[in-house]
Amino acid sequence: MSKISFSPFIIGTMRLGQWGAKMSTDEMQNFIEACIDLGINDFDHADIYGHYSTEGEFGAVLKKDPTLRKKIQITTKCGIKLVSENRPDHKIKSYNCSGKHIMASVDQSLEQLHTDYIDILLIHRPDILMNPAEIAATFARLYRQGKVKYFGVSNFTPSQFELIQPYFPLITNQVEASILHRTPFLDGTFDQCMRHKIRPTCWSPLGGGKLFKEPEKDTPEAFIEQQKRIKTVTETLCEKYNASADQILLAWLLKHPARLLPVLGTSKIERIESALEASDIDLTHEEWYELWQASTGEEVA
Ligand SMILES: NC(=O)c1ccc[n+]([C@@H]2O[C@H](COP(=O)([O-])OP(=O)(O)OC[C@H]3O[C@@H](n4cnc5c(N)ncnc54)[C@H](OP(=O)(O)O)[C@@H]3O)[C@@H](O)[C@H]2O)c1
Repeated sequence: MSKISFSPFIIGTMRLGQWGAKMSTDEMQNFIEACIDLGINDFDHADIYGHYSTEGEFGAVLKKDPTLRKKIQITTKCGIKLVSENRPDHKIKSYNCSGKHIMASVDQSLEQLHTDYIDILLIHRPDILMNPAEIAATFARLYRQGKVKYFGVSNFTPSQFELIQPYFPLITNQVEASILHRTPFLDGTFDQCMRHKIRPTCWSPLGGGKLFKEPEKDTPEAFIEQQKRIKTVTETLCEKYNASADQILLAWLLKHPARLLPVLGTSKIERIESALEASDIDLTHEEWYELWQASTGEEVA
């Protein structure tokens, strides 16, 4: 397996279809092409997005213009079984990482995406009943069949990651990470990625947009206070670096030596363009901790 390389950011597709922007085929094509023009060719999917419809909507673009396929790298995920009109046989929400489920899910994704290979397959969430040897054998089979090039996991704890890694080389752990979700900085996730020389991919890098919106009616007071503290520090840094708030918050993630790869959830090209400039902002060590402190609400020990 050769070494994988990524573009500077990964484009999340979760909000492009029915769970967000509801882009038409033409709009999605324009969006994909604009990302490629910006030098970003990594797209992050999951079978479940849009209640199992977003892969198909993206695939319609690849069907319309098959030349796009070789210009992009597709991640997709499997293992969550949602209760959905599109999956009437799912009685409750559950996780399934059995070989049978992974194989069937990959075949579905290939069909939906109108492609004969997936670049990166992730187990979306750890299945409590997962068997590492069975997962590894299934990954090896998919690799031999040419259906998937690289494999990883998502939302795995370091010990769950360590369970699979010795059986099969994983290329990432995709975890939630942002100024609002600091867990992987402290629970060993990023340390482990550095130790294995792989790059963590980070979902909801801007907290799902929560920091940019007015708090909803039932928002807990503690979150409102946290939001205010983060906003105050961010605004000072925006002035210093002549940057926007999203650029500062991305620069904060990019400063970590694990070389985090944010999975951007925006459906707006101008925000992706602006995100690219975040790489030029080098926050000082102290500024990084100012934001950390604004998030935790207390000085480090
Ligand atoms: N592995 C997993 O379990 C998992 C879970 C969740 C998500 N994901 C992946 O991660 C991707 C990103 O997640 P996310 O969408 O939560 O990420 P995010 O980038 O933190 O949030 C995106 C949201 O923030 C808004 N936003 C971004 N910048 C903004 C700004 N400057 N002002 C106002 N609003 C702004 C976007 O709206 P606009 O569209 O208007 O810009 C969008 O609604 C998903 O698409 C998916 O691929 C993975």
